[in-house]
Amino acid sequence: MSDSSKTIRQNLAILISGRGSNMLALLDAIEQGRLNAEVAVVISDRKDAVGIELAENKGVQVVIITATGLSKEEHEKLIVEEIERRNVALICLAGYMRLLSKDFVKAFPNRIVNIHPSLLPAFPGKAAQRQALEYGVKVSGCTVHFVDEGCDTGPIILQSVVPVYEDDTEETLSARILEQEHATYAKAVGMVLDGVCQINGRRVVSASI
Ligand code: GRF
Repeated sequence: MSDSSKTIRQNLAILISGRGSNMLALLDAIEQGRLNAEVAVVISDRKDAVGIELAENKGVQVVIITATGLSKEEHEKLIVEEIERRNVALICLAGYMRLLSKDFVKAFPNRIVNIHPSLLPAFPGKAAQRQALEYGVKVSGCTVHFVDEGCDTGPIILQSVVPVYEDDTEETLSARILEQEHATYAKAVGMVLDGVCQINGRRVVSASI
């Protein structure tokens, strides 16, 4: 593309706590040219997160910041410092298991996104796939949303739907949703970076750019 703005790679910071498959999906999308971005840093709040090695194998810088012995404020301050050092356009939570404080969210207005394994506002919080099965819904899916001060409550950017089958277990439903998560997250992050998402109250609408 001749437009130079399309070739500028904006920096992402990805926050993880565990497996890191959504992080990897973003890295793969970048590698395959589906997402025009650069992962400037992966930050893990757990030393034993499986995603650490996955990121390092891709040549991405990983910073481990555990919360041990720190207040929430102190812990978040360290994370914010790492992010601010790197000219980050967007922070992607990818299985990051801590709720961000009001101050953290305020420091990056509309620049934090999260992926959640349900069709929000249904089944926020932990074990969303189990909640969906127990409730008996016939479809579920995943949601990418901007992060606000609540738990999985921010404006919705993109959702994908999957069927729920009668013989589903938490594992089979989770796997079906996860496949959609990987595609949906990369697409949504691309939309935000391209500036096509405008927040209008609770609604995220297409901005003309
Ligand atoms: C995903 O299901 C994501 O939606 C949720 O936590 C899980 C993280 O998985 N927020 P992974 O670490 O990305 O593999």
